Amino acid sequence: MTSPSPRDENASRDIEHPKAAKAGMDGNVTVKSRDIEQAAIIAQKSDTLNTKNTKKVFIKTYGCQMNVYDSERMADVLSPIGYAPVETPDNADLVILNTCHIREKAAEKVYSELGRIKKMKATKSRAGDGDMTVAVAGCVAQAEGAEIMRRAPVVDMVLGPQTYHKLPEMIARIARKEGQVLETDFDTLEKFDELPITREPKGFSAFLTIQEGCDKFCTFCVVPYTRGAEVSRSVSQIVAEARHLASRGVREITLIGQNVNAYHADGPDGKPWGLGELIKHVALIGGIDRIRFTTSHPRDMDDGLIETLGNEPKLMPYLHLPIQAGSNKILRTMNRDHTYEHYKQLIAKIRKARPDIALSGDFIVGFPGETELDFQQTMKCVEEIGYGSSFSFKYSVRPGTPGASMGAQVPEDVKSDRLKRLQDLLYTQQMAFNKSLIGRTLDVLVENGGRADGQLFGRSPYLQGTHFNGGIDLVGQIVPVKITGAGRNSLTGVRVI
Ligand code: SAH
Ligand code: SF4
Ligand code: F3S
Repeated sequence: MTSPSPRDENASRDIEHPKAAKAGMDGNVTVKSRDIEQAAIIAQKSDTLNTKNTKKVFIKTYGCQMNVYDSERMADVLSPIGYAPVETPDNADLVILNTCHIREKAAEKVYSELGRIKKMKATKSRAGDGDMTVAVAGCVAQAEGAEIMRRAPVVDMVLGPQTYHKLPEMIARIARKEGQVLETDFDTLEKFDELPITREPKGFSAFLTIQEGCDKFCTFCVVPYTRGAEVSRSVSQIVAEARHLASRGVREITLIGQNVNAYHADGPDGKPWGLGELIKHVALIGGIDRIRFTTSHPRDMDDGLIETLGNEPKLMPYLHLPIQAGSNKILRTMNRDHTYEHYKQLIAKIRKARPDIALSGDFIVGFPGETELDFQQTMKCVEEIGYGSSFSFKYSVRPGTPGASMGAQVPEDVKSDRLKRLQDLLYTQQMAFNKSLIGRTLDVLVENGGRADGQLFGRSPYLQGTHFNGGIDLVGQIVPVKITGAGRNSLTGVRVI
């Protein structure tokens, strides 16, 4: 991908440890512990020796945007100690699986991947190519902890989502052959204080975590247990990271959090700020032309945020606001703390403030106790609200959550049937929404060249992938495109000059 942005400028600054400035040092050294010092020595060696010393790290990401962001941050923290990212695991010195625990299938995938990695590790060792350190990070790590090592002894390290800043220290412990390492602390703010805000974005659109954790305890969901309590980052840290991203050519920032609209912090004006104020502040940063945020909870959709949705032109007209189910009885047993009527009123208010908004949602079918009548109410909700895109799932029993021990579990074949009917409706709406854009001119942020020469690919304000023809010099720019065709998942168009 060609990049017109000033990405290579000050490249060396990106590998500075955030503590170096504080401690008055100019290298990768920190004063925190022997382990980190040892990691720093490895880093200095790999800086001063030739590239043969660079180790390879393969990071595989499962799950949500939070994990995508965290994987990038792990790569950032590993770079000063000599690790460069690679695209395949077979010859990597360090393999990290950044895992998701949200549904049973997501969690089980990790164990089948570990089976494959075990074979690769053995092959690498037999070929005399050195050892492969295997780490499991993310929400499965937090939920299952040492159980992972018992089930898959190939794993050297298990690290929960709030411990990534400690990676160099953990690697040093492995290098000293101290045995398997388990880190599942829950100090979210320490993680953000320790991770460098300087990062090398991959394209023109970047995620920026502003909030982590969840206090809502929906009865189906593991997130409050795997990510801990709701914590918001400081405004100054977020702005510094956003400014850095802008300086590296990023034009679109998606502010992310498990409950992103629960964001609250002290503003620079001394007043308490919510997400609305934060967005207006981030919008002042030169170079940032588009802002998005995800995932929101209906309970935290306050008037300040709705007003910002209506007034802030840099905020894209797209809102992901999951309701999960249309039946108030099911919403109650899910502990969602909102009714269908509340959600509907909220949507009306949002549409009044921002008439061009497209909505997206998450839905679960087959939650315990869901009757055909309850399910019909989810269908009615979709018909009445109308969604431009969506994510829909069969309820998956998660051990340890209240839903797991509820009676009246819904049989698998009933769940499958309901999911199919719901998805038929949701996909019809998605197709209709995409087709309604034909003839309109939309601003497309060009991400890269398409497969054939002269083809470009980018994202519309509504997040649809959009294909059109144009020169590669347009990559990284926001270009008006007249939409001429629409499929369920993408648009085609012609550039308007
Ligand atoms: N914090 C966000 C999203 C969390 S997880 C929110 O509150 O909306 C993303 C989605 O996964 C959820 O919205 C829900 O639809 C789905 N999900 C979570 N737990 C699930 C489970 N046990 N079975 C099926 N889907 C689930
Ligand atoms: Fe899970 Fe509910 Fe929290 Fe979302 S709000 S992360 S669905 S517990
Ligand atoms: Fe999965 Fe954890 Fe995200 S469970 S959806 S990776 S918060």
